[in-house]
Amino acid sequence: MIPFKKHIQDIRPYEPGKPIRELQREYGIRNVTKLASNENPLGRPSTKAMRAMRKAIREVHLYPEGSCHYIAERLSRELDLPTDQIIFGNGSNEIIELVGRGFLSEGDEVISSEMSFLVYPILTQVCGGRFQAVPVTRDYRCDLPGILARVTPKTKVIFIANPNNPTGTYVTAQEMEAFLAKVPPHVIVCLDEAYVDFVDAGDFPKMLNCVREGRPNLVVIRTFSKAYGLAGLRIGYAAASKEMVAYLHKIRQPFNVNSVAQAAAVATLDDKFFLWKTKWMVARGRKYFYRQFRRLGLEYLPSQANFILLNLKKDGNEVFQELLRSGMIVRAMGAYKLPTWIRVTIGRRSENAQLIRLLKTNLENNQSS
Ligand SMILES: Cc1ncc(COP(=O)(O)O)c(C=O)c1O
Repeated sequence: MIPFKKHIQDIRPYEPGKPIRELQREYGIRNVTKLASNENPLGRPSTKAMRAMRKAIREVHLYPEGSCHYIAERLSRELDLPTDQIIFGNGSNEIIELVGRGFLSEGDEVISSEMSFLVYPILTQVCGGRFQAVPVTRDYRCDLPGILARVTPKTKVIFIANPNNPTGTYVTAQEMEAFLAKVPPHVIVCLDEAYVDFVDAGDFPKMLNCVREGRPNLVVIRTFSKAYGLAGLRIGYAAASKEMVAYLHKIRQPFNVNSVAQAAAVATLDDKFFLWKTKWMVARGRKYFYRQFRRLGLEYLPSQANFILLNLKKDGNEVFQELLRSGMIVRAMGAYKLPTWIRVTIGRRSENAQLIRLLKTNLENNQSS
């Protein structure tokens, strides 16, 4: 008998957005648009990053720098944070995993919001921990007082995605301050800021200031996968106290971030126009979608991220399947217990317009049948 662990066998694996190639193969469609995985809307990486990648691939017969030296130096200047307060991962997903492996033992508790990134409960289960999902508020926001009320001596980690995936809602600076003041020091607070670059709300918390102040139980997680357009390379990072970073370094693999990703991340940080254009596209796309959703009479959640959650008031999975047949990949929300909602990523202008056309046709067909 193979000694499979029960708590691992019980895991429902994370289902990523369908890759474009898979849909092309399955449905025999050539033109596929993917607005499903919150990737960069420009539809390509930065040209500076591509140049750096071409150079870096000449040396992929060598192991990468385990210390991520150059990207650490570059990011340290960018964030005004010492290099020993930054750690890189194979995507920010790996950082989330390092925190789990570093702090969770069997029976430990992890708290997060009910409608948040599905990797948090999966990781908790992998580590044999108990996941506590706190329901969102009536306006689909993270209930921080509700999270605090669930803290027990067994609580080891709290995950908060801000802005949150999949709702796009956010926790304000004032709310965060009140929350952090009450979190007991034995609890690690992981603030997942994967979408922070798309935020335009003036009252969004500046968590790197807390890291600079040296809060020992805080880990701020960020990624190059979204606004920086490097999702396929897998590179993300965490900013935290020196002690926390040193501890997480002990857990990671010696060469956890590949050399092409390291080189591309340095170059993309230098490409300010790429970042500016990305943010501009997302801000414009958000406004466009809000306008169009209102016109179609669809409920949506105002978003601080590069995606919007949309209530179709009918089976979201059916609409998802129908959109797939037309070559449009979005995200059904059944796994988040939101069966009538879909999540759409903001893309290029023509892609956004294509989605609106398809949704309009879907709604009209429904009315006439
Ligand atoms: C909230 C959140 N955190 C982390 C990640 C992981 O990003 P990556 O591993 O590509 O850095 C995602 C990806 O979609 C996300 O939505």
